[in-house]
Amino acid sequence: MSSPIPVFPPQEGDAGTNEELYGQFTELASSWPCFRGLSRANQLYRHENGWYSTLPPLVGAMVADARFAARPSDIVVATMPKSGTTWMKALLYSTVHRREHPAAGPDHPFNCLGPHECIRHLEYQIYTRNRVPDLDGLPDPRLFATHVPFASLPRSVAASGCRIVYVCRDPKDTLISTWSFVNKFRAEDGLEPISVETAVGYFCDGVSASGPYWDHVLGYWRAHLANPARVLFFRYEEMSRDPAAHVRRLAEFVGRPFSVEEEEDGAVDAIVKLCSFEHMTGLEATKSGKTELVLGAVENSSFFRRGLVGDWENHLSPETARKIDAITEAKFRGLGLSV
Ligand code: A3P
Repeated sequence: MSSPIPVFPPQEGDAGTNEELYGQFTELASSWPCFRGLSRANQLYRHENGWYSTLPPLVGAMVADARFAARPSDIVVATMPKSGTTWMKALLYSTVHRREHPAAGPDHPFNCLGPHECIRHLEYQIYTRNRVPDLDGLPDPRLFATHVPFASLPRSVAASGCRIVYVCRDPKDTLISTWSFVNKFRAEDGLEPISVETAVGYFCDGVSASGPYWDHVLGYWRAHLANPARVLFFRYEEMSRDPAAHVRRLAEFVGRPFSVEEEEDGAVDAIVKLCSFEHMTGLEATKSGKTELVLGAVENSSFFRRGLVGDWENHLSPETARKIDAITEAKFRGLGLSV
């Protein structure tokens, strides 16, 4: 029998608040250049480190920088939005907690909680609505997530030497996934869809949440090259090709490699199956659950669309694809990185 599902991190009532701190950062961020862009809320501010975000998560990132106290045992999932965050959160949570919550067990937490509730984003879920929660009581290893570029991670993350798991995805699929996500919410709000051409324009100009895409990927790639034991670098496409190999790498990286007995018992395959797109989309927590983000409650089902490699081919012309590929090649040339 599994142990009860942890309430993670402290909920509304437990969280201390700091209106003044949020007010100061909101004032500062509001003074930064503001752009229309491909995001749900449209207005994107440019952080002084050169990346773009809507205001509430930007302020959340600044509060996290000021107040988050990382521990060396923490593990942080870092991604560009729509790069496979949900999948990685599911894989990491189920790998780290496989002893108390076996993946093949009947009462796994994913039956009632989405991956975004099991591993919360610092700037979208934890440091929001004037909250400065006390995270000290959470047991090791604490698991967090962020969309913030490497250079703007909370300073304690760098200082603590905690581990970071990064996932990158073909920019064309990231773009199409983002565009579809934004248009889904626009349709719900009764707004006209954004054309794919407009979305490509914003994306290539770097004006996308946490973008420019290429700077985001390169920041973590360089960090991985400098310290592979601290920064793990995964590609969505390679995870799709061989998820079991990636689960094993993940387990080793977090210091919990699979034992021979676990391998024989099929623990790796059970995690792969539990976290698969097909299984996750069939769960009640996905079909009817919601996740509270700083921009409002989001249906868990909206984090799942097609889950395919190369879906961009259904939406982008060969010419547009070539244009994006040319930017990628130019930006990544000579750095040992291909997506
Ligand atoms: P598509 O829109 O191309 O289908 P994020 O989690 O970073 O928001 O990324 C969302 C993308 O990851 C979506 O891509 C979604 O379908 C896909 N995804 C979510 N869960 C997945 C899973 N378990 N396996 C593979 N892809 C998944």
